[in-house]
Amino acid sequence: MNMKVTVLAVACALALSACNNNSTPAASTGPDAASSTMAATPMEAPAAAAPTPAASTPAAAPAAMPAADGKAVVTDCATEVDANDAMQYNVSSIVVPASCKDFKITLKHTGTMPVTAMGHDLVIAKKADLSAVDADGIAAGAAAGYVKADDARVIAHTKLIGGGETTSVSFPVSKIQTGGPYEFFCTFPGHSTVMHGSISVQ
Ligand code: CO
Repeated sequence: MNMKVTVLAVACALALSACNNNSTPAASTGPDAASSTMAATPMEAPAAAAPTPAASTPAAAPAAMPAADGKAVVTDCATEVDANDAMQYNVSSIVVPASCKDFKITLKHTGTMPVTAMGHDLVIAKKADLSAVDADGIAAGAAAGYVKADDARVIAHTKLIGGGETTSVSFPVSKIQTGGPYEFFCTFPGHSTVMHGSISVQ
């Protein structure tokens, strides 16, 4: 129990600090829970923080420990994003090489909780559309995978998955080349305030 609370608090703290780097508008999407959790928790967090020293394990480190800066590892116009039972993605940004025509994102749920309790998807839309896409997705309900059918604001999305499942989506890079900033996020109810990150083309 205490363990779980601490993990969540750390998750929130990480997500929020990532947000600050982007000068986010997250304040508009319901900061109450996150900020009260943070306030209640001393932020030293020595245990969970200790990441493996960068670069001690080359390339094939098991499924995507996030880089220190939270940037997704991109190889051959594709990347993998992991999502867990603590309501977290393992990366906070994805930079798509401009040389790619299409880009593929594989979403892997590394947890064990069922899709009904801890479902994750990965939806891409303009940052400015995130809140509305999320709200309409939640209204569309579980049967719709929490993504409104034919939502023109949605550039790409995976299906909703539960623990142990993997899914992927590909989309033309041209769709996020201009008109951003763009974000990726989870539309499972209550998740997008923590589960979101930036996606850009460089
Ligand atoms: Co989720």
